[in-house]
Amino acid sequence: MCGIVGYIGNRPAMPFLLEGLRRLEYRGYDSAGVARLTSAGLAVTKAAGKVAELAALLPAETQETLGIAHTRWATHGAPSEVNAHPHLDCGGKIAVVHNGIIENFQHLKRRLEDEGHRFRSETDTEVLAHLIEKHYRENLGEAVRLALQDVRGAYAVAVVVADQPNLIVAARRGSPLVMGVGLHEHFVASDIGAILPFTKDIVYLNDGELVRISREGFRAMTLDNIWVEKPVEHLAHEADKYEKGQWPHYMLKEMHEQPEVVRRAAMGRVLADDAMVRFGGLNLTMSELRAKRRVVIIGCGSASYAGMVGKYLFEEFAGIPTDVVAASEFRYKRIHVEDDALVLVVSQSGETADTLAALRELKRKGLKVYGISNVLASSIARETDGGIFINAGPEIGVASTKAFLGQLTVLTLLAFLMGRLREMSVADGRDVLRQLGQLPTIIDDILARRAELAPAVALLKDAPSAFYLGRKMTYPIALEGALKLKEIAYIHAEAYPAGEMKHGPIALLTGTFPCVVLAPKDSVREKTLSNVQEIRARSAKIIAIGTQGDAELAALSDVFFPIPEIHEMLLPLVTLIPMQMLAYETAVAKGYDVDKPRNLAKSVTVE
Ligand code: M6R
Repeated sequence: MCGIVGYIGNRPAMPFLLEGLRRLEYRGYDSAGVARLTSAGLAVTKAAGKVAELAALLPAETQETLGIAHTRWATHGAPSEVNAHPHLDCGGKIAVVHNGIIENFQHLKRRLEDEGHRFRSETDTEVLAHLIEKHYRENLGEAVRLALQDVRGAYAVAVVVADQPNLIVAARRGSPLVMGVGLHEHFVASDIGAILPFTKDIVYLNDGELVRISREGFRAMTLDNIWVEKPVEHLAHEADKYEKGQWPHYMLKEMHEQPEVVRRAAMGRVLADDAMVRFGGLNLTMSELRAKRRVVIIGCGSASYAGMVGKYLFEEFAGIPTDVVAASEFRYKRIHVEDDALVLVVSQSGETADTLAALRELKRKGLKVYGISNVLASSIARETDGGIFINAGPEIGVASTKAFLGQLTVLTLLAFLMGRLREMSVADGRDVLRQLGQLPTIIDDILARRAELAPAVALLKDAPSAFYLGRKMTYPIALEGALKLKEIAYIHAEAYPAGEMKHGPIALLTGTFPCVVLAPKDSVREKTLSNVQEIRARSAKIIAIGTQGDAELAALSDVFFPIPEIHEMLLPLVTLIPMQMLAYETAVAKGYDVDKPRNLAKSVTVE
């Protein structure tokens, strides 16, 4: 949700600012802007659209050595040039870029307007520029600190003022911000991925910290005015993880990293001889876990679908009733969570506003909450009582793939552990773990067969709408498959438990309507096959994902994509892969930018 960068040093700022913005575009890409400090004052350039649009407006070479820049995902006000950041104060001397949301901006705006400040945009951010102007007495750090005292909400900001050519002030609360340290130069950004090609020496700012940055050095303090020492960490091996390399899209690269994601999620956690699993970071003993009588899983979007897979797994293989609630619903409803429930919040980014709000409300009520996240230093990872780290590495593609698979893997391991702590025998446990060990190869093999989906893509590509059907374990995977198709191929897709189709949706079936059916060999395959027959009877098109050698399903389908036979507990992890490939191939066939789908942003840090 918006990306910010800043540079102060001895070389031209623009190469870093533009490259940094490009690397942060996954956070938002509907408008962009830059402010550079010239000898005549601040020069601000803004554009609606992607960073490439902004770059086209800038002079070929700029020499300024100080600047801040922003790529936006619109919340307050349309994605227009005037609403793009940086925002300026009345005098055009102070420039601000901001990631986050100022919740009390309307109140502050009215107050500032009454005091004579003139606003140009519809954004919440502009109040910051005017608040800083109000407090500015030649000490920018103090003016920013005082302005932030008035602000409610989340922010990472970088601020420059025209009459101080050797200073950037940056601060954060609730939104990420890191600093890079070079030789007589410093960088700030929302994410280390923007900085690592320029320096490997990184400073992580904590929530509630502010830093004054010059060419020669930096000083950090809390927003309560206490100086703090910040260690510089050398991240020699991180840079490659942010590179697209030879892949045409991050999404494809990240899909191909999934075999490794399964390995890493299991590494150090699986005790093969005892057929057990241990999670160091969960901070729960085996007897505490055994005493749990219910599981409650909270998340948004794909993370909530991972939770739904978890529900089937916990109920089927551990015998524990499980509730899954969308965080956006959970935060405003009456909450019935028993003391002996295991409460899990699931979030790739660890910054999703609805999930964070649900977590905070549960904590206010005195409950212990455990997190499943992919970002160690994220708000959710920090505020939970314990958790399981997915360890999938940075996910840049906006549509989640490997992080979702990582969520599924750790939920499978947790359900397995809960099952083993109850009725699952050691022999059954060993069988599941043996098959889990085969997953990386199975996933690799499926990924290598992308071209086989061409006939399925031909059926989907020009369809206005599609159904995705699954039963039990594969129903949430159908939901995820449909979400992926909507997100990147812009095709309306609805997922149903296969047996629900005859209760209404079947009315839509005609000769060209595509139905993606997940019907692998599991405890409900026969039932799903009956639904396939119903589709066939209406002459609609069937794209089936089934078990290798299932001649009956293959004969009923227009396209049959076989997967190897696998334990039902692991089926979601395998059936997911063709869902991702199908959406990817369809989006590519339609010529869309799969890494930056319209209207989306990687982490939704606003309500
Ligand atoms: O970072 P989170 O896991 O909390 O994000 C939750 C959803 O916003 C996210 O999964 C979203 O649905 C993705 N666009 C899915 O591709």
